[in-house]
Amino acid sequence: MVLTKKKQPSAKNIANVLSDSIYDRIFPSHLELVPQLNEVYELELAFYESRVLSDEEIIKNGAYFARVGDRLTRHFLICSGETVRLPQHSSSRLRSFFQTNQFKTGYATHGLFPYRGKFHPQMIKALINIMGLKPGDTVLDPMMGSGTVLIEARLMGIKSVGIDISPFCCFMAQTKIDGLTVPLSPVKTALNNCKQVYDYFSALVGQPVQGSKMRSEFEPGVLFSINEPSSNYNLISELLSQECELKDVYNFLLLAYLDSAGYTERSNRKSPFDQFKAILERYLFVAEKIQSVLEGMESELAEARTLVGDARKLPLEDSSIDGILFSPPYSFAIDYLENDSFHLGVLGVDIEKLREEMVGLRGRTLRQKYDLYVADMEKVLSECARVLRQGKFCTIVVGTNNNQLSKILGVSPDDVQGIDEILSGLGSRHGLQLVRKISRQITGMANTMRTEFIVILQKK
Ligand SMILES: C[S@@+](CC[C@H](N)C(=O)[O-])C[C@H]1O[C@@H](n2cnc3c(N)ncnc32)[C@H](O)[C@@H]1O
Repeated sequence: MVLTKKKQPSAKNIANVLSDSIYDRIFPSHLELVPQLNEVYELELAFYESRVLSDEEIIKNGAYFARVGDRLTRHFLICSGETVRLPQHSSSRLRSFFQTNQFKTGYATHGLFPYRGKFHPQMIKALINIMGLKPGDTVLDPMMGSGTVLIEARLMGIKSVGIDISPFCCFMAQTKIDGLTVPLSPVKTALNNCKQVYDYFSALVGQPVQGSKMRSEFEPGVLFSINEPSSNYNLISELLSQECELKDVYNFLLLAYLDSAGYTERSNRKSPFDQFKAILERYLFVAEKIQSVLEGMESELAEARTLVGDARKLPLEDSSIDGILFSPPYSFAIDYLENDSFHLGVLGVDIEKLREEMVGLRGRTLRQKYDLYVADMEKVLSECARVLRQGKFCTIVVGTNNNQLSKILGVSPDDVQGIDEILSGLGSRHGLQLVRKISRQITGMANTMRTEFIVILQKK
């Protein structure tokens, strides 16, 4: 490379350089970005959105724009206003977290139930757009966790299928999806009779113990079933004494109860009942807010299907899916099942049996876990290739815990092959070819994982 020597710029030239905005160079002048867009990967995704979407599509489904000409976008309207109603004593740090993330994560029903490893919903919306998915198409998340992809797709009018091996994830995802339409008046009645609802669930499920883990074991389907009515709905219907979509209301209240039980286990700031009340208030606020925004807009919510199933053996037809978007587990040491043990117990799940099916948790030693992880992910990618239509995209969001892998593989952290590279290599064996890799920084986990990758593969 030949290095060129630049002339020292004059003050006038510097002023000219500075007045030449990079935003004006890459975006047409009638597009205005959302506030809080401050990372390079976000700018990159916004750029792709501006290139693949029409103005009408940006107004309806864009993730990174606040305004097109003089028209506000739906994303801006959905996210505007009060974020969550925080209790009086909340710290300024917590308040500023919600404000900073107003357009990224804390909107619609995404904020119900904190799930580790959850996607950034705004990024997911952009990726759905960039993969070229349109209303009427179907997107798949084969490891859906809390259902971020399905909630976004539903709001965008794009059909979705979500699969997870954990029945608790399916319950949580389905309840968050149904939260977009859950009847509000029975939930308000439940909040007004909060003590009765709390007593009802604590008698049924068990009472959380402050600062310690609980275990409950029930027969499957006793307390909940995603699609079938549970024998307990009649109890809740007596309590609410109202005609309503019982399954959705029941599941909404149960999720709030399980969420509050998790908080109680971790902290002793509030009594278990006060915790439940605060969480149910927040759930109602979230559902009310999104429903009132949706009412004021022309919007068709699309079908979103959740299934308990194995990503290594997808229960789907060949070439039946228009886009895949997912994030596999990326660590071999975090025991997600241990974290969710109470919730899984409530749903009647045999945790040890489930562990045998969970990608990343199978195997006894860390080395065995790693080898099984790679073998399992190859199966997942071959299934993704099978169900995806030709020419369509499969996007994987994944990071690497270099320190952990360096110990397992006996190499230095700098020589560890990233999971993103392993997965794109496995994908190419099954006809999924890498077209773009975008990196984003992870904050808050700086010691173990600094970067996460968005790996976009195309089926050849
Ligand atoms: C990183 S999380 C996904 C989080 C998700 N993107 C979200 O926004 O909530 C990975 C998920 O893979 C699921 N999983 C693990 N093994 C699986 C398997 N064999 N089949 C399907 N899902 C599996 C786990 O239960 C977990 O929910």
